[in-house]
Amino acid sequence: MTALKKTAREKQLLEKARKYLPGGTLGNLGGDTVIARGQGSRIWDTSGNEYVDYLLGSGPMILGHAHPEVVEAVRGQLESGTTFFANNEHAIELAEEISKAMPCAEKVRFCSTGTEATLYAMRVARAFRRRDKILKFEGGFHGMNDYSLMSIWPSELKPFPQPVPGSSGIPKAVQETMLIAPFNDLETTTAIIDRHHDELAGVIVEPFQRLIAPRPGFLQGLREITTRYEIPLIFDEVVTSFRFAYGGAQEFYGVVPDICSLGKAAAGGYPLTAVAGRDEIMAHFDAGAVESDDFMPMIGTLSGNPIAAVAGLATLKVLKRPGTYDRMFGIGWQIRSRIQKLFDEAEIPAKVVGEDVLFDVYFTGEDIVDYRSTLRADGQMLNKFNKLIRERGVFKGSSKFYLSAVHGGDDVERTVSAVKSAIEELTK
Ligand SMILES: Cc1ncc(COP(=O)(O)O)c(C=O)c1O
Repeated sequence: MTALKKTAREKQLLEKARKYLPGGTLGNLGGDTVIARGQGSRIWDTSGNEYVDYLLGSGPMILGHAHPEVVEAVRGQLESGTTFFANNEHAIELAEEISKAMPCAEKVRFCSTGTEATLYAMRVARAFRRRDKILKFEGGFHGMNDYSLMSIWPSELKPFPQPVPGSSGIPKAVQETMLIAPFNDLETTTAIIDRHHDELAGVIVEPFQRLIAPRPGFLQGLREITTRYEIPLIFDEVVTSFRFAYGGAQEFYGVVPDICSLGKAAAGGYPLTAVAGRDEIMAHFDAGAVESDDFMPMIGTLSGNPIAAVAGLATLKVLKRPGTYDRMFGIGWQIRSRIQKLFDEAEIPAKVVGEDVLFDVYFTGEDIVDYRSTLRADGQMLNKFNKLIRERGVFKGSSKFYLSAVHGGDDVERTVSAVKSAIEELTK
C-alpha cells in the first residue's frame, strides 16, 4: 500500500496551521490533513487524495457535500440578505417543519450550535421546575458548555452520581449542580432520581448515546420516572434529529420527551440549531407568557438566519421524499454487516456497534452497553484501523461512521475493500 501523497502546498498549510492555530487544528479532527473540497459522498484533500467521507462534517452533511438543491437554495437567498436579527419567512417555515416532524416540538427557538441548544434546554428545564440540578449520563456528549462537560469522558471513574469535569476552567460550583448516572442502567438511574427528585430540574440524555443504542425499556423507564416526579425529560437530538427518522429518535424509539435539542442534519451544514419542546415549558422564552422573574432571555446574533434556514428547508425536503431513509439505512446495513463479517473471518475480536446510519468498530469481544464498557475496548487498535483505512481512501472521525443519503454501491465496495486490506495489515 502506497502512502497518501502529500504536496508541498499541503505541507506548507499544515506548517502554517501549527503556527497560527492552537495544536495546529480547529479543535476538531487531528491536524494531519487539509481538506480542499467535498462533493456528494467524497472529499479531497489539498494534495488531491480522494476519500469516501464518513465524517460528513461530524454529521450535518446528511445529503453529502454541496447537494445541488441545498446549494441552489442558499445561492437564491445570498442575494436577498444574510441575517436580519428579526423574524424572517424561512426561519418561520423551518420552525413549522420542525414542529410537525418532532413529536415534542410544540414551539421551537433557534440558536447556532448544539452547545447552545443543550445549554438552553437545561436552563429552560431549571426555569420551569424552579430547581437547580440536572441529571446527565456518564459518557453522554452534549457539547462544550460547562454542564455538558461533566463526566463527558472521565478517566477517573467515581461512584455515581458524582460528576468529573471534562475540561479545565469550569467553576467548581458547577459540579454541585450535576448528577451523573450510568446509561442503560435503569435501576441505578431510578435510585438516583428517587433520592434526588426534589432537587432535580431535568434529566438530559442522548437517546442513542454516542454509538450505544438504548436497551429495550430504558428510555420508556426514564420517561415513566420523570413523569412520575414531573421532571422534564430532555432528549439531546443534535445527532439523531432527521437522521434516525424524520421525527428523530423520539419517533425512532417511540418515546416523547418534554424538551429536545436538535441540530446538525436539521440545517444541512449551515449554522443553525434549536431547542424545542412543550408549550408550557417553552413559554419561559416568551416575556409575555410568564412573570418577569420566570422569563428566560435567549438572544443570538445569527439565531434563525435565513441562509441556514433555507439550507435546512431544502435538506428536509429531500429527506422527506419517500424511500430516503430506507435507502440510507440499507446502504449502512450493507457496510456494517460486511465489515463485521470481515472481522469475524479474521478472528479479530471486534464489534460494529450502533444503528445502520451511525456506527463504528469497537475492538472488544464484550457487549458495549455504557461508557464504562467502551473503556474496555482497544482504543489504540481503533486509531490504527482509522489510519489504515484513511490510507486506503476512507475518511472517518476518530469514533464514528456517519452515513449520508448519497452514499451508494460504489462507496460500499470501496469501503469494504479498504477495510479488508486494513484487516490484512492488522493481522500481519
Ligand atoms: C449529541 C450532541 N449534542 C451536542 C453537540 C454539540 O453540538 P455543536 O458541535 O454544534 O456545538 C454534539 C456535537 O457533536 C452532539 O453530538
